[in-house]
Amino acid sequence: MPGSFHSSANDTSSTYKLGDFCIDEYRPIRVVVIGAGFSGITAGIRFPQKIPKVDLTIYEKSAGAGGTWFNNRYPGLACDIPAHCYQLTFEEKRDWSAFYAPGSEIREYLQGIVDKYKLMRYIKLRHEMVQAKYDEPSGKWHLRVRRPNPETGVLEEIEDVADVLVTAFGSLTRWRLPDIEGINDYKGQLHHSAGFDPLDKTWQEVADAWSDKKVGVIGVGSSALQLVPALQPRVSKLVNYVRGQTWLAVPFAANTFANLLGRDPGAAEDFTFTEEERERFRTDPEFYKKFRYTLETEINSLHSSTLQGTPMQEMGRELFRKNMEKKLAKKPEILKTLLPDFPVACRRLTPGPGYLEALCEDNVDFVSTPIKRFTEKGIELADGTQHDLDVVFCATGYDTSFQMPFDIIGRNGVKLNDKWNPHPVHYLSVCVEDFPNMFMSLGPNSGVGSGSLLALIEFEILYACQAVAKMQRERLKSMEIKAEAQRDYDQYLENYFPKSVYAAKCRSWYKAGKEEGRIVGLWPGSTLHALKSLEHPRWEDYNYEPLDPVENRMYWLGDGQTYAEKTLTGDRAWYLAEEYIDRPPDSSEFLSSAAK
Ligand SMILES: Cc1cc2nc3c(=O)[nH]c(=O)nc-3n(C[C@H](O)[C@H](O)[C@H](O)COP(=O)(O)OP(=O)(O)OC[C@H]3O[C@@H](n4cnc5c(N)ncnc54)[C@H](O)[C@@H]3O)c2cc1C
Ligand SMILES: NC(=O)c1ccc[n+]([C@@H]2O[C@H](COP(=O)([O-])OP(=O)(O)OC[C@H]3O[C@@H](n4cnc5c(N)ncnc54)[C@H](OP(=O)(O)O)[C@@H]3O)[C@@H](O)[C@H]2O)c1
Repeated sequence: MPGSFHSSANDTSSTYKLGDFCIDEYRPIRVVVIGAGFSGITAGIRFPQKIPKVDLTIYEKSAGAGGTWFNNRYPGLACDIPAHCYQLTFEEKRDWSAFYAPGSEIREYLQGIVDKYKLMRYIKLRHEMVQAKYDEPSGKWHLRVRRPNPETGVLEEIEDVADVLVTAFGSLTRWRLPDIEGINDYKGQLHHSAGFDPLDKTWQEVADAWSDKKVGVIGVGSSALQLVPALQPRVSKLVNYVRGQTWLAVPFAANTFANLLGRDPGAAEDFTFTEEERERFRTDPEFYKKFRYTLETEINSLHSSTLQGTPMQEMGRELFRKNMEKKLAKKPEILKTLLPDFPVACRRLTPGPGYLEALCEDNVDFVSTPIKRFTEKGIELADGTQHDLDVVFCATGYDTSFQMPFDIIGRNGVKLNDKWNPHPVHYLSVCVEDFPNMFMSLGPNSGVGSGSLLALIEFEILYACQAVAKMQRERLKSMEIKAEAQRDYDQYLENYFPKSVYAAKCRSWYKAGKEEGRIVGLWPGSTLHALKSLEHPRWEDYNYEPLDPVENRMYWLGDGQTYAEKTLTGDRAWYLAEEYIDRPPDSSEFLSSAAK
């Protein structure tokens, strides 16, 4: 392999010359991140923290940072897991207003982090990556980015070059309207959940002006389950068009929530925190920590429910069926249509607070007759029924095929879209053969069916940081996953899923919107499994090219000294700093742990 380290072990003729640099005289390294959601924001904190002399840019095509939470504004948008389990490990928020925090609060939380770490130094808004091409001779990524010209506002393309590319462009960003006949003829207000823009208002202000309106919501995924209860009390008539089935969970960790707060577990569901509870979170760090830790433990204890035939899966099925039956007692005909024949969690499971209750209200119609087409005034069903509608929300999901709307071109001109056809292939969701110096966060097979997603995102970013640190420390031009390592990982992945509930027949974004086939959305294992897999990279699974034209793999050792010694500046006893000392337990603890 040209440019690889290949001097022979027997070659003792020493033409080798020491590098004229200190071991820690690191080269500047340019990292470009695509996307400024949770992943890109975490990258914006971790790269400058971990990589000396990093030159970082984060390109974000939207007008603000926050990703999912900046882009989505639809009525009812909220976290569907406890908000205490949906925050970065190192950035706690003490004043969530509700167990399932509203989307606006998560957006503010993320904006607060952007401000705290001054991330706008790195983030370039309204900059859309339109091409990324790997240049083999230099080992760099050549990038094309579309942005409005800062002076004229006219769209233009600029070029950039990076040593390392980090994709953080999300798996649930490529939304599209459904392919329903006549959709362009409809004259009322038509929104996709992810495209809804309340402009300078809140969604509540917009929806409160709809008290005389007939509103349709198409879908029964997580977005629809939030739209329906948010709109129902505000509109004159609501019609929910549901072609499939779904499980509604009981609220995650509801008993734990009640017990920790000293509430009556049997009382009616109310997931807003009282002012006293919020004050306690703010002022009692031990209570806050216990609350967060207990919920996180609970959410990470559900993995066996995602495996077919386990007692937890069967228990969930029974519990959720009874819960749905109870909540739909007023309109039992809905249960017959909605109750799935597939296992719990086969498609994204959510408690959907208030959804079933809203379906039972008098101003709501649940329609399972297939939609035939849109008309100018509304929707026509397959049986000919016409519905006049003022507003229609298509909560119809995303393109999760991982066929990207722009070209990412790797070694030998290989296009990522071709490499990922018919389905994405990768190594541990973090990199792809033929795409050197490229790392991914929330790429294919990165979601979780249970457990904490943000911890996984943090570990993916830390994996990328470790790789970049290695490239910088060891003076590497490129690192690229070996074909055989990617193949072996693929075999693991293919063999993992058949025993999981995700493999059952149900339409889901986990399978790129299909009922059957390859699972592309989820990590093959639990969240805790993912963290362990990513924590210690197997560097032997990569090929490397040296940066310098020197046939000696130890060139990076430099001239035998550190920069602090050479210049007599900086800390020359750093290993005595408290953060570096790894204190073993005292002798009695040590002996007892050694005996185990
Ligand atoms: C409506 C909704 C609600 C959700 N709720 C939850 C929840 O309650 N709990 C949970 O665990 N998960 C939830 N998720 C999943 C959620 O997407 C992740 O939890 C997380 O926010 C993903 O962060 P990310 O930064 O990886 O991706 P994203 O948040 O999707 O951010 C990607 C960013 O990349 C930008 N981008 C894309 N392409 C380009 C380009 N070519 N050039 C420049 N920028 C680009 C996008 O504009 C976007 O800002 C939800 C998803 C959606 C859609
Ligand atoms: N915080 C949260 O709770 C939250 C909120 C929103 C999204 N999310 C995340 O985003 C993911 C996507 O959620 P989503 O609800 O936006 O999308 P989704 O889960 O993919 O659901 C899309 C819905 O639209 C229906 N649909 C699609 N095309 C249709 C058509 N032509 N005619 C009729 N119905 C059609 C689907 O029908 P079928 O039922 O037949 O498939 C499905 O019910 C979630 O799984 C979750 O991971 C989370």
